[in-house]
Amino acid sequence: MSVNVGIDAIRFYTSNYFIDLRTLAAVRGVDPDKYMLGIGQDKMAIPPPDEDIVTMGASAAKSIIDRDGKDRIELLLFATESGIDQSKAGGVFAHGMLGLPARCRTVELKEACYGGTAALQLACAAVARNPSIRALVIATDVARYELASPGEPTQGCGAVAMLVTANPRVLAIEPEHGLFTSDVMDFWRPNYRDQALVDGKYSTRVYLQALQECWKQYREQSGRGYGDIHRFCYHLPFTRMAEKAHERLAKDSGIDLTDEQLDQQVGPSLAYNRITGNSYAASLYVGLACLLDTESEDLAGKRIGLFSYGSGCVGEYFSGLVQPGYRERLFTHEHRAMLENRTELSYRQYEDIYNLPFPTDGGTHTFSRYRTGPYRLAGVKEHKRLYETVS
Ligand code: COA
Repeated sequence: MSVNVGIDAIRFYTSNYFIDLRTLAAVRGVDPDKYMLGIGQDKMAIPPPDEDIVTMGASAAKSIIDRDGKDRIELLLFATESGIDQSKAGGVFAHGMLGLPARCRTVELKEACYGGTAALQLACAAVARNPSIRALVIATDVARYELASPGEPTQGCGAVAMLVTANPRVLAIEPEHGLFTSDVMDFWRPNYRDQALVDGKYSTRVYLQALQECWKQYREQSGRGYGDIHRFCYHLPFTRMAEKAHERLAKDSGIDLTDEQLDQQVGPSLAYNRITGNSYAASLYVGLACLLDTESEDLAGKRIGLFSYGSGCVGEYFSGLVQPGYRERLFTHEHRAMLENRTELSYRQYEDIYNLPFPTDGGTHTFSRYRTGPYRLAGVKEHKRLYETVS
């Protein structure tokens, strides 16, 4: 008999700093409607110098650990495409900061924005094999493109932590899925660069192609169709992409989609991303957290369809069933408070932070204190990152 496995808790974290895209549009000489309407973004989250993928990931996970404890967490999967070390997994730093049990398998996963889904599915498989353990998935990224490039307004940052268990209390992940891997160069970042390279228009086309293939397989494998899914979440490089994806999926399913249906079926997952920007591996799950937090209708018993896409590329379509009582497990108030209390940056401040070099000389460097979550990157010494808990 198969075991019911999935997401028992989900917590989102982002930087306390953002730049308004109207500010960026004015400096770049672009009509702000291109950003607000054309790509569907209002603000982008900017990590200060003492925030990185590890502090964001650990900050997302801390609320879950504080509430649900750390016992039986035997697997920590840390998904990112903005890794800070070629050798050591970012998850091992997070493991130490969170004080997790030493009896734990910890590893970092990468496949562009798909990494978080790989981590979630592998965690589900591990828990299905041994339902007595729990797994912690952390998806965390900083999206960074060249200044004044087409990708610039789609930058952002954030992390999502998910506790994966048997008999989950938020979302049971169903076993059927559609998969697609294809060796393409739509977005990549060689090890010697700290900004992504992207063929943006091409990447949107491959995204849609991957969606079509995955959706076809999902339908064949599950015997379900468009009408069996209540709400839809998509990987969110920018929110307009999700709308385009949903239009394509509906068309392929023979549905004549109205604007109202589009808004109802996809809209509730977009609000957080609109004001934080892309967080690569975390982005689909920022959308899921947003849907669960902001949808006024009780989703208990309803099916959510999820499409994950990572450039390069790998796609996956899968689904989950929202569990009764899920609202009691959410961190809606924490998410709202975090997003409402952010500090706005001027263009000059954004550019200064963007251009600040990370020290690579092996010396001792102490980083200025900005507003962060419970953890911060205090400095670097002898090429070792020094993290501290914020009291
Ligand atoms: N008012 C309203 N809409 C406007 C506008 C205005 N004044 N000016 C432009 N737009 C619309 C365009 O018509 C276009 O809409 P469409 O895609 O429906 O045709 C949209 O805004 C974007 O404009 P475009 O000129 O195509 O933007 P761009 O070439 O500068 O960049 C991306 C768009 C997506 C290619 C770019 O943001 C990018 O490279 N992003 C990073 C890669 C990425 O996120 N890939 C996604 C897959 S993972």
